[in-house]
Amino acid sequence: MSEVWRCLRFILLSRLLAPALIWVADRLWDDGMPMSGFGRHCADGKAWLLRRLWLRGEGIVYLASDLAVTLPLQGNIEIGGETFVGKRCFFGNQASIRIGGGSALGNDCRLLTATHDPQTHAVRYLPVQIGAGCWLGAAVTVLPGVSIGAGSLIGAGAVVTRDIPPNSVAVGVPARVVRARRT
Ligand SMILES: CC(C)(COP(=O)(O)OP(=O)(O)OC[C@H]1O[C@@H](n2cnc3c(N)ncnc32)[C@H](O)[C@@H]1OP(=O)(O)O)[C@@H](O)C(=O)NCCC(=O)NCCS
Repeated sequence: MSEVWRCLRFILLSRLLAPALIWVADRLWDDGMPMSGFGRHCADGKAWLLRRLWLRGEGIVYLASDLAVTLPLQGNIEIGGETFVGKRCFFGNQASIRIGGGSALGNDCRLLTATHDPQTHAVRYLPVQIGAGCWLGAAVTVLPGVSIGAGSLIGAGAVVTRDIPPNSVAVGVPARVVRARRT
């Protein structure tokens, strides 16, 4: 019986309740708000709601609309204050994701935490870490197990396959460091 209840609860939370809450949050705290004044206030409310589901962290986090987070709902995601997450970002939630404060993720970024062994196809979960004060341009993909050092800038469309040292500018597929970033 407890197994049945666990399954039901899983389906209720994952397929109905969580998407419904996200939908409501997106309508109430719509995107396009500036990161000051009223916008920050709104974003704070949305972040509060999402934290109830997955997110942990401190301070105000600005989340634009249509953030997708995979199951399970384990609260594996930690976002520092004053961080901006653009529209339609995707966070794998199978291993931990940490984003330092004062960072910005452009629209359509993907932080992936699950992969497969290329030979055996066995599934592997690896954490992703983004240091404080990073800027990821639009549509950056960060692969499982990768850490991006604090203060780094990743150019639009990059696929980050290896760790990036702090205060670097990296671009391309795969992302290569092209110079240091002056902060
Ligand atoms: C990474 C970035 C900040 C670099 O800006 P910059 O210092 O002005 O760089 P430049 O335009 O002078 O380009 C320097 C070189 O890097 C290349 N380059 C720049 N951005 C690149 C990118 N995203 N991917 C691949 N190569 C890139 C340029 O082609 C140029 O190469 P070249 O020297 O062979 O001609 C910028 O190009 C970028 O990607 N910004 C993100 C914009 C964005 O996503 N905005 C929306 C979300 S906030």
